[in-house]
Amino acid sequence: MPDALSPDAFTLDALPPIPRPGRVLMTRPDHFRVEYVINPHMAGNVGEVDRGRATAQWEALRDAYERVGMEVVVVAGTPGLPDQVFCANQTLPYQTPGGERGVVLSRMHAAQRKPEVEHYERFFTGEGYEVHHLDADLPGDFEGMGDALWHPGRYLLWGGYGYRTDRQVYDRFADSLGFPIVALELTDPDFYHLDTCLCPLDEETALYYPGAFTDEGIAAIRTHFRRTLEAPEAEARELFACNAHSPDGTHVLIQQGCADTNDLLRAGGYEPVEVDTSEFLKSGGSVFCMKLMFW
Ligand code: ARG
Repeated sequence: MPDALSPDAFTLDALPPIPRPGRVLMTRPDHFRVEYVINPHMAGNVGEVDRGRATAQWEALRDAYERVGMEVVVVAGTPGLPDQVFCANQTLPYQTPGGERGVVLSRMHAAQRKPEVEHYERFFTGEGYEVHHLDADLPGDFEGMGDALWHPGRYLLWGGYGYRTDRQVYDRFADSLGFPIVALELTDPDFYHLDTCLCPLDEETALYYPGAFTDEGIAAIRTHFRRTLEAPEAEARELFACNAHSPDGTHVLIQQGCADTNDLLRAGGYEPVEVDTSEFLKSGGSVFCMKLMFW
């Protein structure tokens, strides 16, 4: 396998362009709870979710996506699956340069979350996507768009690993679907998914928290994004500043109260759209993982 981290492995301009996905999938929080602890943020929060507030926050996030012009498609939640609301994690949708749409199904790390995946398999089958399971002979876990993030506008995947996803699963995608992977090792358990510490905003720019990566990882991010914005530690760790999301390269939906990050975003020409996801932070998630973009 070529060393995906090598800056010489490819240049961005040489990779095929991919349109930004235009639809947002969300899963209603009717069954959202903190019932177990599978990441450090959940510790101390078992039984602490205010369900009325969670519903209001989720609806406000859905409305914020609609206000910036996105179509939101809702998949119902399931009794007994309290983390299903984090619908970025069960799949990785893709569109090839030739326009074929498919989806790779996750193999969730925690036993409690494994039954979530089939609900999205059904959804994408209904959408006419080609559905891929991880090969049975391939060991390791994969948590979809919690760890695997498309480079905006290019056929390039950023792949986080270390807590929820295993390094080797990426090599199979890269081989069979024909895109390069930049693999990034995660080094801090508070930042257990790549979407907690890297937020690609547009083709040129990423918001990230360097403390969650190795030196090689930081170098790779700084090589392939011409501009990087560094979220301050407190906002990244406590408020999930890097779990923000820009659906269009202009607006950035972000947890309320990330004042310094918002200044960086505004200085960079972006428009922060603050939303309150405090009930979901109790479970270790915010904006990015409460939705899934698809074509
Ligand atoms: N409680 C969920 C878990 O630990 C939260 C997932 C948040 N998702 C994310 N992509 N950060 O699996």
